[in-house]
This record gives sequence, C-alpha cells and structure tokens, in this order.
Amino acid sequence: MKVTLTGAAETLLAPLYARAVDARSAHPLLADPTAATLLDSLDYDFGRLGIRPATAIGVALRARFLDRRTQEFLAAHPDATVLHLGCGLDSRVQRVDPGPGVNWFDVDQPEVIDLRARLYAPRPGHRTIAASVTDSDWLVQVPRDLPVLVVAEGLTMYLPADEGPRMLRNLVGHFPQGEMVFDSYSRFAVRLTRPLPVFRQTGARLNWGIDDPRDLERAVPGLRLIEAAKAFDTADRADLEHLPRAIRFRLRFEVEFLSRLPVLRRIGHISRYAFGS
Ligand SMILES: C[S@@+](CC[C@H](N)C(=O)[O-])C[C@H]1O[C@@H](n2cnc3c(N)ncnc32)[C@H](O)[C@@H]1O
Repeated sequence: MKVTLTGAAETLLAPLYARAVDARSAHPLLADPTAATLLDSLDYDFGRLGIRPATAIGVALRARFLDRRTQEFLAAHPDATVLHLGCGLDSRVQRVDPGPGVNWFDVDQPEVIDLRARLYAPRPGHRTIAASVTDSDWLVQVPRDLPVLVVAEGLTMYLPADEGPRMLRNLVGHFPQGEMVFDSYSRFAVRLTRPLPVFRQTGARLNWGIDDPRDLERAVPGLRLIEAAKAFDTADRADLEHLPRAIRFRLRFEVEFLSRLPVLRRIGHISRYAFGS
C-alpha cells in the first residue's frame, strides 16, 4: 500500500519502523508483531528516516512503559475509557488487549485514520476519531461517565506551544476524573532534534517543549503530577543484559554520566497526571 502522508502525519512511520526493528530483534523489548506485519504491507522508503538501532530500542522502551501504565490503569478501572491521542499506526490496543468494559478511542488526523482503517480490522470496544487533537468539537463523541486514561506517545512536541495546554484544559474540563500519561521533550531537546533526518525528510516541525513536568500543574488547573520518569528510567536492569554491547555501553554512559548534567537531565520525560476526584 502506497504511503502518501507528509509532515507530522508522516512521522508516524518512524516509531512504526522502530517497533518493527524491535519485533525482529533477537531479544525484543516490546515484541509487537503487528508493527512488523504493517511494515511489510506499506510501500515506503523507511531508510530515509534515518532510524538507528539505539533509537529503535528507545522507542520500544517508551512504548512498553506507556503500555504498562495503561494496563495498570485498566487493572484498577476495568470499566473505563481510553483516549489514545496521536495514535498513528500504533497497535497499542492490540498489545494492551483491554477487557469488555473498556471503550478505546484512537484519535489522529483524518489522513492517518483513513490509512489505519485500511490496515486494521474492526474490534469490539474500539473506535477511531479523525480530528486534530487541538480541536475540541470531537470530544462530544467520547462518553464522560467512566474514568478516563488519556495516553499519548510522540505527540506533544508537535503541538503548538499555546495549543498543547489548551487541549489539556479541554480534556480536564470534559472528564470528571482520570489520568493522563504522555512523553514530552524539553525546549532544548525540541531545538536539538530539529535537524534529524526524520524532521528534515517529512517537513514536520517540533514546537512544544516542556522543561519541568510540574509546569503543567500551573498551566492546567486540576492536573496533579503523580510520576515523572526520565527516558533513562524506562529500561529494566534485565533488559540491558540482552542489548548489543555498544548500545548497552551507551545506555550506561547516559544513565551514569549524561543524566547528571542539568540540561540533559530534563531533556525528556514521560509524565503521569491525575485529575478530578
Ligand atoms: C511521531 S508520530 C507518533 C505516532 C504514534 N503515537 C506512535 O507512537 O507510533 C506523531 C503522531 O502525532 C499525530 N499528530 C500530530 N499533530 C496532531 C494533531 N494536531 N492532531 C492529531 N494528531 C496529531 C501525527 O499525525 C502522528 O500520527
């Protein structure tokens, strides 16, 4: 299937490729066979995105971390709504495999949802919404009566810096209670990563940097930070044993040395917030 996406929508091919590389590795961290199957069905030159083996590992660890938080939320709230924002072609709903009490909404731009519909079979309890997450009209389609988990991966940095907090305020205003979990880059990281091939090739621009996850408590009344993990925190000790030696060395270097430098310590976070009762 020919891929004609451009801009931010086209960037979804980078994490998809990374998850497929992980799935095909000798010791997968995420083990998402759907990513590898989807990759084979797409007519696209993935080489132009310049995804390196270490990046693929980072993406797999980030996805696994967010999957685990989603599973934990659903274990505590078997009747719940999951709002997966900027879903791309991610098969999170297949990996998490929620129970019958869960309404799962995958939200992304119309051209992405259109491509998803051609690649994925329908599944009970799952719906897609074709919209920009920064518009608020689509939220009326999502029931408010159950606890909600809002999960987003590789999304916030693409949003305009004023529209990101507004989107979060809309979400907090719509749902009586729930949690949000998403990754973010610092303002320094947003500038640092702009020249990477994935952004040069797709024309996508990164915008919103969050230096301190606590800043959002002030920008979004009602939001309470309950966890802020650094990119370095997503690996389990056992994972490191199976990684290629060069990558293991690099990760140790990052954890034991680079993560102590103030500007790098806060380069990226995965943050979890609660709101409502
Ligand atoms: C780097 S991709 C990540 C995709 C997916 N979360 C994953 O990990 O595979 C960024 C995604 O954010 C989506 N996106 C960016 N801005 C958006 C917006 N305003 N509304 C909805 N989706 C958006 C893009 O279409 C794309 O699917």
